Amino acid sequence: MSVHFIGAGPGAADLLTLRGRDLIAACPVCLYAGSLVPQAVLAHCPEGARIINTAPLSLDQIMDEISAAHAQGQDVARLHSGDLSVWSAMAEQLRRLRALDIPYTVTPGVPAFAAAAAALGCELTLPEVAQSLVLTRTPGRASAMPARESLRNFAATGATLAIHLSIQNLAQVVADLTPHYGADCPVAVVWRASWPDQRIIRGTLASIEADVAGSMERTALILVGPALGADGFAESALYAPDYDRRFRPQTADSIYKDSIE
Ligand SMILES: C[S@@+](CC[C@H](N)C(=O)[O-])C[C@H]1O[C@@H](n2cnc3c(N)ncnc32)[C@H](O)[C@@H]1O
Repeated sequence: MSVHFIGAGPGAADLLTLRGRDLIAACPVCLYAGSLVPQAVLAHCPEGARIINTAPLSLDQIMDEISAAHAQGQDVARLHSGDLSVWSAMAEQLRRLRALDIPYTVTPGVPAFAAAAAALGCELTLPEVAQSLVLTRTPGRASAMPARESLRNFAATGATLAIHLSIQNLAQVVADLTPHYGADCPVAVVWRASWPDQRIIRGTLASIEADVAGSMERTALILVGPALGADGFAESALYAPDYDRRFRPQTADSIYKDSIE
């Protein structure tokens, strides 16, 4: 018996890995984390599967469900939205499973930031503009931020920011970022990326509050940084015609010359 943690993706039912789909189909028990996991993903559960929404359960109750399945030798599919490596509460479940000596596997999923970038048709790292992406959030009711992980500190780098769980703090996000990025810095807010009712609002730090005008709540990602609006960026050296590289040696004395056939 194993508990299979599976990233269920950002919303679109076909943004689920084949491995995830097959594991869901093989497990007689499925625990899923609330409304962000689409019903179409749950449709992969086998007939007669015990399917439980864990949103109203405590961690102890979730572990009780897993222990009951374990006692019966039944594999469990444990679904969380997006990928499991960020804001999934997987770590605390894994710690309990290790203490109970219950085996588990982890299958990644498509994270919300990637779905949002895809919806925008945008690369978040551009040559000489931004070479780092910060996945972050602002403090919430249940989650304080470690002192040094402030938006202001991240903003000082000029990197692209993907700000989760924060649409309700949009005014504070704008106030913290404007001194670093400037009022004309591009911002995009993507609500329910990849869902059928997905919405995108583009603006600048100066305009985004008025652009959103309180019309989005909960499942929205705020992307900020010059990469979101840049058009005049340099092309990457990788595909430049004269760039000497292993798969395209340029001269007979290239350090990659042995690759020339
Ligand atoms: C608890 S976190 C889950 C993150 C998830 N594990 C991931 O890999 O993206 C929930 C937050 O992720 C963002 N999010 C999740 N799904 C989203 C989607 N489809 N579109 C936009 N933002 C989304 C929102 O900021 C939301 O408040």
